[in-house]
Amino acid sequence: MRKILIVFAHPLVSKSRVNSKLIQAVNKMNGVTVRDLYEEYPDFFIDVKKEQDLLLSHDIIIWQHPFYWYSAPAILKEWFDLVLEHGFAYGRTGSALKGKYTMSVITTGGRKETYSDEGHNKYPIRQFLLPYEQASRLCNMQYLPPLVFHGTHLMKERDLDIAQMDYVKLLTLLRDEKQPLSEIKNSMFANEYNNE
Ligand SMILES: Cc1cc2nc3c(=O)[nH]c(=O)nc-3n(C[C@H](O)[C@H](O)[C@H](O)COP(=O)(O)O)c2cc1C
Repeated sequence: MRKILIVFAHPLVSKSRVNSKLIQAVNKMNGVTVRDLYEEYPDFFIDVKKEQDLLLSHDIIIWQHPFYWYSAPAILKEWFDLVLEHGFAYGRTGSALKGKYTMSVITTGGRKETYSDEGHNKYPIRQFLLPYEQASRLCNMQYLPPLVFHGTHLMKERDLDIAQMDYVKLLTLLRDEKQPLSEIKNSMFANEYNNE
């Protein structure tokens, strides 16, 4: 069984419709640890050693967050800056995370079509996620295709239920090692993989 760590960043969970529902569903799953950064560190003073230890004891690291200004809520950047330390995560002697897998799970207000050359967000979503992909590579980890829920403002209760089920299904698949991760790697989005 692979151990999954969800590094979760949402500054206002009480107002969240989508992420709160997603987190609720996976929070009690066996083999899944949820790290709610805003809850743990309301003052932004991240316990680096604790976060690094959590990384060491898990196989797959998921960054889950709403998409804010084409990026993530601020605390996730702080987490990257402090936790993925030189000498630990990268650099000549930094190989602690080697062989682990990473993935983004994000929700966007913009509909899928808006993230294209013709759409008002201009670029495909995978392009905005390149920093996560390349940071993973720098740390000798493999970035799996992201799970993306677009058009959150238009999501009805039924859509939220489906999103929740999709997330549980994906994490179950990842956790239970039923299929090699190399198969997921070939998709553009984990959504596609999940629907096969
Ligand atoms: C500060 C802020 C910035 C946002 N920036 C973006 C953005 O760049 N692209 C986008 O598609 N949606 C953007 N949104 C919409 C959020 O992604 C959307 O509200 C969120 O994914 C919904 O998830 P939730 O119900 O868990 O809060 C932004 C929302 C806020 C509050």
